[in-house]
Amino acid sequence: MAEEKLVSREIHLKQRPVGMPTENDFELVKVDVPDLKNREFLVRNVWMSVDPYMRGRMREIRSYISPFQIGKPLEGGCIGRIIRSNNDQFAVGNYVLGNLGWREYWISDGSGSDVTRIDSNVAPIQWYLGILGLTGLTAYVGLLKIGQLTDNSNSTVFVSAAAGAVGSVACQIAKLNGCHVIGSAGSHEKVKWLLDEAKIEHAFNYKEVEKNNISVELGKSCSDGIDVYFDNVGGEHLEAAIDNMKTFGRIVLCGMISQYNLTSAPTGPSNLFLAVLVDSSYRDLLLEIITTY
Ligand SMILES: NC(=O)c1ccc[n+]([C@@H]2O[C@H](COP(=O)([O-])OP(=O)(O)OC[C@H]3O[C@@H](n4cnc5c(N)ncnc54)[C@H](OP(=O)(O)O)[C@@H]3O)[C@@H](O)[C@H]2O)c1
Repeated sequence: MAEEKLVSREIHLKQRPVGMPTENDFELVKVDVPDLKNREFLVRNVWMSVDPYMRGRMREIRSYISPFQIGKPLEGGCIGRIIRSNNDQFAVGNYVLGNLGWREYWISDGSGSDVTRIDSNVAPIQWYLGILGLTGLTAYVGLLKIGQLTDNSNSTVFVSAAAGAVGSVACQIAKLNGCHVIGSAGSHEKVKWLLDEAKIEHAFNYKEVEKNNISVELGKSCSDGIDVYFDNVGGEHLEAAIDNMKTFGRIVLCGMISQYNLTSAPTGPSNLFLAVLVDSSYRDLLLEIITTY
């Protein structure tokens, strides 16, 4: 018996947003789902992730990932259930992780790295888009590999956008490693969650801190300085962290969300020279060398 013809609803990019994206930049489009060829299977999306990096893909710029195309569906992490299959390796009922979000249905033949079977017995399937997926792994690799945080390090770690998908995991990994953790977030509820649930040592609402005073706020909560700054925000947050870094502290440049909707070139950080003048003894040494030769 012929299978019922399906129609997929997709979100297309209608035009490239300028500044903050609006609904007018996107379009809901209905397309016929084609019949399956040999080895192909049909997935119905159940979950999709909407992430800050997608804002960058809405621009026509050269980057580590290609820009979204006007008149084409957006893409991004998604979890779906296989509902039809001509492929022995991908059975009906299996859940898969893919990169074709922003649509109801998609077809794959299972080759390449764009589709991965996931086990719904291990964890709730949506976790593969969070703690077990892109954002969780970003926090893990960023903090432990790039930030070189070691077990029971007693380090002071500052995380910005600390209640977000990446930041909340970074805070918890830092806590598990015995660190003194400071987080910034943009609401009272998020600050409360960071203190009560994630149990970090200090959290503050950067929107309530006077302009240019994040640095002073950080100075109060980590008077000995920061060992690792996990930067999700850039701009003022990065500048404030640089002001408060310990000698040989590390900064993990994960993202700079404060700049993604800017329509003119961002300013700062204006204090990068502090990365060279690491502390007063080195500064004195540097000055001695310069004046001697
Ligand atoms: N390098 C990588 O491979 C990689 C991978 C994933 C993510 N990232 C980056 O990691 C960062 C966080 O991503 P995510 O997935 O955790 O996003 P998310 O869960 O959507 O959290 C982003 C949060 O950033 C905060 N924010 C937005 N504008 C801000 C501003 N102007 N100043 C300060 N905070 C601001 C908001 O929280 P508040 O309410 O607290 O303001 C927002 O909820 C982004 O920069 C993203 O691009 C990088």
